[in-house]
Amino acid sequence: MEKAFWEELQEYNRRDIYPFHMPGHKRNPVAAGLCDPYLSDITEIEGFDDLHHASGILRDAQAAAAALFGAQESRFLVNGSTAGILSAISGCLLPGETLLLARNSHRSAYHGAQLRRLSVRYLYPRPEERYHLNGGIAPEDVGEALDKEPSARAVFVTSPTYDGLVSDIGGIAQEAHKRGRILIVDEAHGAHLQFHPAFPRSALESGADVVIQSVHKTLPSLTQTALLHFGRDNRLDEAAKERIRRFLSVYQSSSPSYLLMASIDRCRQMLEREGGRLYEAYIPELMRFRTRMEGLRNIRLVGRELEGTAAIAGTDPSRLVFAAPQYVRSGPWMEEKLLAEHRIQMEMAAPGYVVGISSCMDTPEGFARLAQAMEQLDREMPFCLRKRALEKTGHSQEEILCRARNEAVLPIYEAADREGVSLPLRDAPGKISREYVYLYPPGIPLLVPGERVSGKCAALLAQLLREGLDVRGLDPAPGDWMNRQTGPEEAWRLRVCI
Ligand SMILES: Cc1ncc(COP(=O)(O)O)c(C=O)c1O
Repeated sequence: MEKAFWEELQEYNRRDIYPFHMPGHKRNPVAAGLCDPYLSDITEIEGFDDLHHASGILRDAQAAAAALFGAQESRFLVNGSTAGILSAISGCLLPGETLLLARNSHRSAYHGAQLRRLSVRYLYPRPEERYHLNGGIAPEDVGEALDKEPSARAVFVTSPTYDGLVSDIGGIAQEAHKRGRILIVDEAHGAHLQFHPAFPRSALESGADVVIQSVHKTLPSLTQTALLHFGRDNRLDEAAKERIRRFLSVYQSSSPSYLLMASIDRCRQMLEREGGRLYEAYIPELMRFRTRMEGLRNIRLVGRELEGTAAIAGTDPSRLVFAAPQYVRSGPWMEEKLLAEHRIQMEMAAPGYVVGISSCMDTPEGFARLAQAMEQLDREMPFCLRKRALEKTGHSQEEILCRARNEAVLPIYEAADREGVSLPLRDAPGKISREYVYLYPPGIPLLVPGERVSGKCAALLAQLLREGLDVRGLDPAPGDWMNRQTGPEEAWRLRVCI
């Protein structure tokens, strides 16, 4: 008999697959302290407050989080950073206003702009040439863009990126503030930054006005848990703060899970009481691992060599980006081999690299298993993979974003509501996309509704599909195209505006 979904989950736990992926608790229930989920799962009963009108125990728990993170005010999120990003954008801007948005933002930021009917102008990350990653957002680019777009009321950037690259948030905040604008930082991947000096400075420490963090990604907390913070010296007026609080109630469940809220609070308490001990054990282990990985010959563990290039102000050592862009399909190959032969699950693969997430819950055994596995992959790679032709290094999503810059012809909200027709990718160039097309993870749209599809963009999407990557937002033609004669240009369809 087939197993039910929940039984599959239990079975998975017995398979001893080591997680170098989120959530940051690494499935360690003892560390998380909340052992039986059913015992903590209540509702708004007497004495347990109400997240949407917090005036008791939940108000105090959120105040404790604000004190730990150094925020003026912090709010619990039970629908991930997604809910915080939607609320921050919706609260900081009014319908019809303009948002200056980093083009490498998570799709929730685009959804915020779409729902609030905003105009969007883009900031492009500087392309990082060595491994074909999205680099940082340069403060001078923000200043220049704001001078060109005086109507932009707020700036939205993502730092760290999925690849652990941090922008100069202090510099960006200065550029925004001297022109009277608000800075929102998506720090979904950086909730841990302030807990050890080995990490780059956090956005709250750098002067951002609103910061959103997924505690579930890099700290020991359950999936969907996140925080929205107002910076200590934020430039938000009272009306904007009030709108953000109200939108949190719009975008989040009216029955927020007590289990999730307890998990955020437990994580906060653990960091307060045991954070020093946990990081003093984890950081040296992480650094020993990084030193050992310097011995690899074909694969590079990306690190500090990128600092000071491509507007990258800092790199997060806990983010394990193994790159080998000189080999075709090296990212998916590493991911597949790690799982099949070493029982290690990574977070994501891109054409030329694979990403792992480490946290203070990782064990020395976990690091040792990954180190051995990477050494073996490093030896095998030249015999298993083809080298790329030099001129073709890395047809990556970064190239699509940074080099194929699609022209935005219609506002997102208008294109997304238009009638559409589905065309083979081959016939899409010149048409206006009605869809978000993205690799998942990381969920950064490669194409946004309202953008005219360039020939280069269509070609790069086809290349990603050919390399076996998980491109979402396209409709597959029925059947297994990989085994047929047709290429992805015919086999995948894009819905475009009529
Ligand atoms: C940069 C970034 N921002 C926001 C999000 C959304 O976070 P959550 O899954 O907590 O809703 C993600 C998710 O992967 C992300 O990568």
